[in-house]
Amino acid sequence: MKTLFFSSKSHDITYFTKQNADYNFTLDFQEARLSIDTVALCQGYEAICVFVNDQVNKQVIEQLKGMGVKHIALRCAGFNNVDLQAAKQLGINVSRVPAYSPEAVAEHTVALMMTLNRKLHKAYNRVRENNFSLNGLIGFNFHGKTAGIIGYGKIGRCTANILLGLGCKVICYDPIAQDTPSKDVTFVSLDTLLANSDIISLHCPLTSESQYMINDDSIHKMKDDVMLINTSRGGLVDSKAVIRGLKSRKIGQLGLDVYEMESDLFFEDKSWEIMQDDVFDRLVGFPNVLITGHQGFFTHEALQQIAQTTLNNLALMAKKQSDPNTFLA
Ligand code: NAI
Repeated sequence: MKTLFFSSKSHDITYFTKQNADYNFTLDFQEARLSIDTVALCQGYEAICVFVNDQVNKQVIEQLKGMGVKHIALRCAGFNNVDLQAAKQLGINVSRVPAYSPEAVAEHTVALMMTLNRKLHKAYNRVRENNFSLNGLIGFNFHGKTAGIIGYGKIGRCTANILLGLGCKVICYDPIAQDTPSKDVTFVSLDTLLANSDIISLHCPLTSESQYMINDDSIHKMKDDVMLINTSRGGLVDSKAVIRGLKSRKIGQLGLDVYEMESDLFFEDKSWEIMQDDVFDRLVGFPNVLITGHQGFFTHEALQQIAQTTLNNLALMAKKQSDPNTFLA
């Protein structure tokens, strides 16, 4: 299976090369992102491997088909960047890694919550400058607070469990949940969750229904001074509405690991460039906003699992087999 990797970073090369000892595939790594401008690089490959910000739209898939590419292996869980219908129509397999480490993302989610609450991002810099003042650093106890989880899937459930361990009351909104919640978790309507949560954390996929589910209207329904966390997909949140919510102090603290326009920013060193995205610039300027660059998944265990599942998907593809858990088309 000759496979071309797009958007490759050094960690992809490290983990996939190590895992490939069990498979012996030909893996080529390309730093470029897949788009209509770079799709020509796929000539001569049977499979391609893509990540969250590669553009796998209909036009790209048609070109892939023309070049004989048979398989698109996503090395991530979310697949909102792939036109599945087009892939199905053209007979190209699409696989993903549905669960590599929900704990990794849940732990990062809670790290954002904790850091924001106890202002560790501010305290770290203060102490480095010998400023030991506690002014402005006051936080709250998680114990006894109500945490609202939107999307009670693998990551939502792990996040709920950690928050239960901290003594939070956990309520969830999930219109299509597969699992019954544990006895300590209550399912509620979205409006009830918005009105009652001190902390709201997003863990549902980005779909046409969930796009901009956090907007002016939903922010208006939230408690004053709410903490809002999004480690799921940027498009769930209307960033401009959130800026209005922060300015009016409705939103007390905001933690993001994803951003709706992240494909132009994340995973690259832009420290010497002039920021062109005014919305992002405004967001990072708030003292009560903490943004990380889509690193929720980024643990040793998760990277190992991603490489293993992705290569296994390619192996199945080579044998003309599929796995209903990991194949989307
Ligand atoms: P999952 O499929 O196990 O769970 C998603 C849950 O959301 C399901 O229970 C589903 O019923 C629910 N849901 C669907 N539409 C909804 C809606 N409109 N409102 C409320 N709930 C809804 O997925 P998993 O593994 O928990 O991942 C969740 C999301 O996390 C992924 O879609 C992905 O976008 C994001 N993610 C982020 C990562 C990061 O590094 N920051 C890494 C991995 C995933």
